[in-house]
Amino acid sequence: MNKQDKTFKIAILPGDGIGPEIIQQAVKTINSIEVKYNLSFEMGFADFGAISIDQHGIPFTEETEAICKNSDAVLLGAIGDLKYDNDPTIKVRPEQGLLALRKSLGLFSNIRPLKIYDSLKDISPLKADRIDNVDIEIYRELTGGIYFGEKGIDEEAKTAFDICSYSEMEIERIAIKAFEAAKRRKNKLTLVDKANVLSTSKLWRKVVQEIASNYPSVEVDYMFVDNAAMQLLIRPSQFDVILTENMFGDILSDEASVLSGSIGLLPSASIGEKYALFEPIHGSFPQAKGKGIANPIATILSVAMLFDHLGLLEQATKVREAVDFVIENNILTPDLNSENSFSTDYVGDVIACLIESENAFESINLENTIMNRMTII
Ligand code: IPM
Ligand code: MN
Repeated sequence: MNKQDKTFKIAILPGDGIGPEIIQQAVKTINSIEVKYNLSFEMGFADFGAISIDQHGIPFTEETEAICKNSDAVLLGAIGDLKYDNDPTIKVRPEQGLLALRKSLGLFSNIRPLKIYDSLKDISPLKADRIDNVDIEIYRELTGGIYFGEKGIDEEAKTAFDICSYSEMEIERIAIKAFEAAKRRKNKLTLVDKANVLSTSKLWRKVVQEIASNYPSVEVDYMFVDNAAMQLLIRPSQFDVILTENMFGDILSDEASVLSGSIGLLPSASIGEKYALFEPIHGSFPQAKGKGIANPIATILSVAMLFDHLGLLEQATKVREAVDFVIENNILTPDLNSENSFSTDYVGDVIACLIESENAFESINLENTIMNRMTII
């Protein structure tokens, strides 16, 4: 059989710390989808983050930028290295690369879905009945606000500032995406802000109120961020779509991820007018590098979101089914299974195997199937 005409180009940025190991599992997932569905993906790897600083002096080179812009989607592992974390005087940092990448590709909407898996309810820090029916999608604005405003520190390092500014247009374009998502989901949208204090938050409320009139079916809630942080723990099931600005979204999405049992489960999509990038929401976890303990699921689920974006819906579902299977059968890394855990590589192999082989899901002897695949490799 001939491969389909279209070859999808994917830029792959493994990054730092556990980035390369989890990306390796995502690549296996992509390869198994190629085999199963006779599709063709051209993967172009590029340096990004601390590794790029080591090799080229900057975290995001023009070459990497060009590879990303010449692709249908970008898949990112994680960036960051301990040597940058405790020294505020360092001028060039890996994170600057991530911000520059988001800005350069215009990735203004960051979508972070939170799903609770039944079989993992016991490891959530919340009581099982509190996380019943939790299914949240966070829409975090990603290219504006305090992250990108003017910044400064005086020469004696006695005062510093970071300006937070938003335009109507910046709020409108992500708000529309969030309302559309709410319409597809449970018709509820919560705008999280600090409108009792911040001018930018007042503008967010005004713009969101105006847009709300175009979405009569969507119930809109307005919540201050301090209360939202509390409500996420008290009654997380009240949320459907959460819409918020850049920094509040950063903080709340880490908080929300804990409800699922591990931050290692949460994927994300960052979408702009022209480009799209997919990455796990967790960081580079440098302490775990090379130990085979990193959870590859967030990255593999990011591949599922990437497939959705490319219109490969069946393939996205297949990936999610394979992930559901390893979760239900406890084939998991130590963050989720401390007693009888499996390695990063092993979990990646099982997921690839489930995707590729027709009867792996029903196979009574799953281990056998995996062993067979191992010997094929
Ligand atoms: C994230 C990360 C980044 C952010 C850092 C690494 C700059 O925490 O993607 O959530 O703050 O946006
Ligand atoms: Mn973050």
